[in-house]
Parts: sequence; C-alpha cells; structure tokens
Amino acid sequence: MKLKSAYPLYLANHAQKAAQAIDVFDKYSGERATQVAFGDHALVERAIAAGHAARAEMAAFPPDARRDVLMHCVARFGQRHEELAAALCIEAGKPIRDARGEVTRLIDTFRIAAEEATRIHGETLELAISPRTRGYRGITRRVPVGLCSFITPFNFPLNLVAHKVAPAIAAGCPFVLKPAAKTPVGALIIGEVLAETDLPEGAFSIIPCSNEDAAPLVEDPRIALFSFTGGLTGWALKARAGRKKVTLELGGNAACIVDADPGAPLDHIVDRLVFGAYYQSGQSCISVQRIIVHRDLHETLAKKLKTKVESLPAGDPRDESTFIGPLVDQAAAERIEGWIAEALKRGARRLAGGERAGNRLPAQLLENVPRECDLYRKEVFGPVAIIETVDDFDQALARANDSDFGLQAGVFTARLDHAMRAWDSLEVGGVIVGDVPSLRVDNMPYGGIKDSGCGREGVRWAMADMSEERLLVLRA
Ligand code: SIN
Repeated sequence: MKLKSAYPLYLANHAQKAAQAIDVFDKYSGERATQVAFGDHALVERAIAAGHAARAEMAAFPPDARRDVLMHCVARFGQRHEELAAALCIEAGKPIRDARGEVTRLIDTFRIAAEEATRIHGETLELAISPRTRGYRGITRRVPVGLCSFITPFNFPLNLVAHKVAPAIAAGCPFVLKPAAKTPVGALIIGEVLAETDLPEGAFSIIPCSNEDAAPLVEDPRIALFSFTGGLTGWALKARAGRKKVTLELGGNAACIVDADPGAPLDHIVDRLVFGAYYQSGQSCISVQRIIVHRDLHETLAKKLKTKVESLPAGDPRDESTFIGPLVDQAAAERIEGWIAEALKRGARRLAGGERAGNRLPAQLLENVPRECDLYRKEVFGPVAIIETVDDFDQALARANDSDFGLQAGVFTARLDHAMRAWDSLEVGGVIVGDVPSLRVDNMPYGGIKDSGCGREGVRWAMADMSEERLLVLRA
C-alpha cells in the first residue's frame, strides 16, 4: 500500500505543478508518504478568474452532460476503489475498513448527484389573485448561482469533498476547492478523474494552499457561494464573506439518549454506541460524545460499554482488524489528553482508557464529568465518550440540549410519543431514532443549528443552495 511519489494540483481543469510542494505524512508511521503541489495567492487568483469566466458555459452545460460527467466519476472511483481506500488509510490514518466505507459513500454521493442533475424542477404559479392580475401566469426554474468556493477538512478527505463538488457539477456551477493540507490526496485523485471529463474549461480548480493564500476564496466578490466544513473558525470566515451565500458545517458534541425502555436489546445498543463514539477514532462531527442514559439502565449499560471499549483493537490502520487508529496529529491527542486530565481533576471517573503515545490515544470512557468541563462542553473530535445519568425523558432532552452545538442527536426509545417529543424539542439539525447520531445517509439533509453551522448539505439541499429561483411571468 503506497501513494504515488507526487501529486499535482488542478488549475482550470488541468494538472499543474507549483513552485512549492508540501509533504503529506503517513499518520500512523509518521513517515513522509508523498508530496503534493502547494499553490499560492497568485494561483488562487487565477483559479477564481478561470472559474468566474466559466460561469455561463457551465450553466449552459446540459443536465444530461453533467450527469454523464458524474457517472464517469462513479465508474472510475469504482475501478480505483482500493487505491482510494489506501490513500485514506495512509494520509488520514483511517482504519482500512472505515476507509473502504468512505469510498463506497463517495461513489454513492456522486451517483446521487448524477441522478439529481436531471431532476431540477420549477413550478407554475397561478397569478390571478385579484382582478388586477387576471391573465398572468408565472413559471419558476432554478439557475446556477455561479462560481462556488469550498474549504474541506481532514477527517473525510473524499466524501466531504464529494458533498461540495458533486452538487456543484450537478447544479452547473464552477468551483475552486481548497482541501485540507494534512489530507489533500483524496481530493487530488478526484481532480485527476474530473480532468478526464469534458467539463467546460475553467469549471474546476483544486488547490492545496495556506489559509492566508486561500483568503480570496472567502472574500472575493466574484464568488457567489462559499461552503466550509471545519471548526468554529467558520463563523469568522462568514463574517468576511460579504454578500455571498455561506454554508457552514462546524461540528458538535452529539448526545445519544438511552430511554428507560430503549426499544432494542442493550447489547445491540452498546454495539451502536461504541461504533458511533469510536469509529475513525471519533474524528467525525457526529460522533457520540455524550451518552445520556436512564438511571434504571445505567449500571448495566456502563458495564457493557466498558467491556466493549476495552476490547477494541487499536493499532496499524492497514490491519484489517484495527478499529482505533491514530489521531491526525500529536497536537490533537495532547489537547484531548489535557481535557481528560481536567475532567478527572474535577471529579470525573474513567471507566476505560489508557495513556497517550504520540498521536495515538486509546478509546476513553468516562462518567461524572462536570458539565462545565471542556470534555463536556466542547467538541472532542477524538475517541472519547462520557456517560451521564438522568431520571426521566424530560431531563434527558434538557441534557441533550445543554450544548452550544446542535448538529444531530440519537434517541433509543420504544415509545413513539418520546420519539415525537425528541423530534419536537431537540435543538439539532437531525434526530435519529433507533440509532446513534453518527448515522449519515448521503441523500439526507445534513447540517446544524446554534454553533454547529448554517445551511444544509446532502446533495439535493446543496444544489438548492447552489441555484437561485428565476421567475418568468407570462401575460395571456
Ligand atoms: C462530518 O464529520 O461532518 C461528516 C460526517 C459524515 O459524513 O459521516
């Protein structure tokens, strides 16, 4: 399992070397895995100019041609499945089974976009609402907004790129993407595949670069829409974005409620909680961080969770049996270690876990974590879950809402009235009943409220954002 020795960036549809290159490291061994071309301010400016110039041609690129481009990607990603999974395994330290799962989702996302490309609907409006307007009819259709800019994070180097790139192509928008500098290879392989297609000249640029050099992707008024997935810095970017549309997906500290009658065997719930909290070492915006359990089940659930967490295989992400791989870097592991130490000092109890070694942190399970601690209030983005106990469902809902974030929440309950109350009152973008908040299906609306962001992804919702309604009025 190896990466190529070097990867170019993509400027206006073409592979290009740059004056500088950066090293990309294998996150498990720490060794240099490859080099990628690293753009600068001038390249970003050229990409924006090319994308802006391509707006009309991209808007006129017919829906069936957009679909064919996307289906070409589906076919090529299928052929390169194992290579793409290996790239994720190396550059993100993602366990190989999770990496294969992400490639499957990448393919799903492009396929959904291919289908949606030919399903762009408008409506007819009867405008005769008074004697003054008799004889008028309206028709709406959606037109692409124009040039889009995207900044994507390290944790899903393929599928979170796909959730911006594929809807842009389906909607008829050119784009400039800055992938995460720690994990740019997945996006550059997507670029390689897009370069095989007949997208109009200038339709796409993929440019790894510094945050400073990426400033025009946020600020340039030629860009109609800016979409960012990452941390809370997204809000500061939005403040600099001027009049463009902005979509932010900024993570959370997701809660999962286990009701007194949870509606499923506890062993199954434990399996799902452990998956939701620890898959890809918790480096997902919707990983289970807070398990809120009814007092009657607390002792049994905690015991079962502890046993399962202690048995999770950790190690080399290339190993088929590995469940816990490394974190993206040592700084992330040290930050989490510090938050755990703070919680323990303030009275938390560790049920499972161990010491950090470099960027590796064993899966951690804690209880009695004071609600003022960072481990409770902030987004951990690591292999940590905390258990808290409640006396009834109302208290569980209140605890789940005791957060600045609001992305997704999970609820295990046998009661339909509780499921409906959760849907009514949980302050999140999505409520998952019968499973963990970590569930995401790539054709569903995805996004949060409160600090978690604004706008929705999920191909159809992203396409709605990337297009505007244009009205035609006809007088008989
Ligand atoms: C994220 O971390 O926001 C993405 C989660 C997912 O797509 O499963």
